Amino acid sequence: MSLSRRKLRRTLSRLLLLAPVTTVGSGCWSWSSTSGCEGGSAPQTFRISDLRLSDGGTPTASASCEELCQSVGGSTPCELVRSEGASSPDQVVCEVEFICEGRRPEGLRSDGAVSGRVPLLGALFAKLAHLEAASVPAFERLAAELAAHGAPERLVRAARRAAREEVRHARQMESLALSHGAGIPEVDVAPFESRSLEALALENAVEGCVRETFGALLAGWQAQRAEDSSVREALGTIAPDELRHAELSWAIDAWALGRLSPEARARVEAAREQAWRELERDATVSTLPEEVARRAGLPSPEVALQLARSLQAGLRS
Ligand SMILES: [Fe+2]
Ligand SMILES: [Fe+2]
Repeated sequence: MSLSRRKLRRTLSRLLLLAPVTTVGSGCWSWSSTSGCEGGSAPQTFRISDLRLSDGGTPTASASCEELCQSVGGSTPCELVRSEGASSPDQVVCEVEFICEGRRPEGLRSDGAVSGRVPLLGALFAKLAHLEAASVPAFERLAAELAAHGAPERLVRAARRAAREEVRHARQMESLALSHGAGIPEVDVAPFESRSLEALALENAVEGCVRETFGALLAGWQAQRAEDSSVREALGTIAPDELRHAELSWAIDAWALGRLSPEARARVEAAREQAWRELERDATVSTLPEEVARRAGLPSPEVALQLARSLQAGLRS
């Protein structure tokens, strides 16, 4: 599927104007982890006396940590904790999941998880910093491969520029993570081996045309809606870069598909379709407390799904 730059910009601008109908929902916020940034989750501590069970009742002393975590949309592993001086557990630690989108390099071995218990917002930004940092080798490799496959110089130059921009994005996210109490996870990528043009096009279709394009939309959404001004400021400078990266993905796609056999093109298209399906699924799976999502400007699961579907529809139309 070939896509003009104008259509991409128009689709994203239209979606960013969507009324934030459900940016504030009730209870929990769902965000995916496993596909978005390979395990975007972090432990979060909740005071048991603040929790309400799904039937509206208050938790009893015999409530299991699974039951308590379910009430906040968290998942396992979980743990009941007794604070100093308390005679019985008064806190529960649940795993909270979230999505982060961007271009991941093949062979990414680190998951960006922060060690120890850190504030959830810090863990979220640490994950995002990890993903931004992982995008640097992804673009460096892409630039080298494009040159090796004889791509137009403008695409090679744009990929090199994107790598430099991802360095800045990683620093900006790192500084947000540090200011919210999280350390910075290391990025570990397996050594690259040369790939065929089809392999490059497949990765670009999934990581660029789907994931990074949705990431660009998400960055714009956060830049407009985050309650935390430092998040709005950081994402305000990152979002225009991400839009260019999405455009680059589609330009690479058009160039590469024109050089592949009909069978190889069909495989790339099938991988892209699968990536859209996975993105839709990811938008509705996991959980982030409402207050954290609001501060970070992340949409609710319902809005995220609507955005993923509308983005897809807009780009196809
Ligand atoms: Fe980025
Ligand atoms: Fe990017």
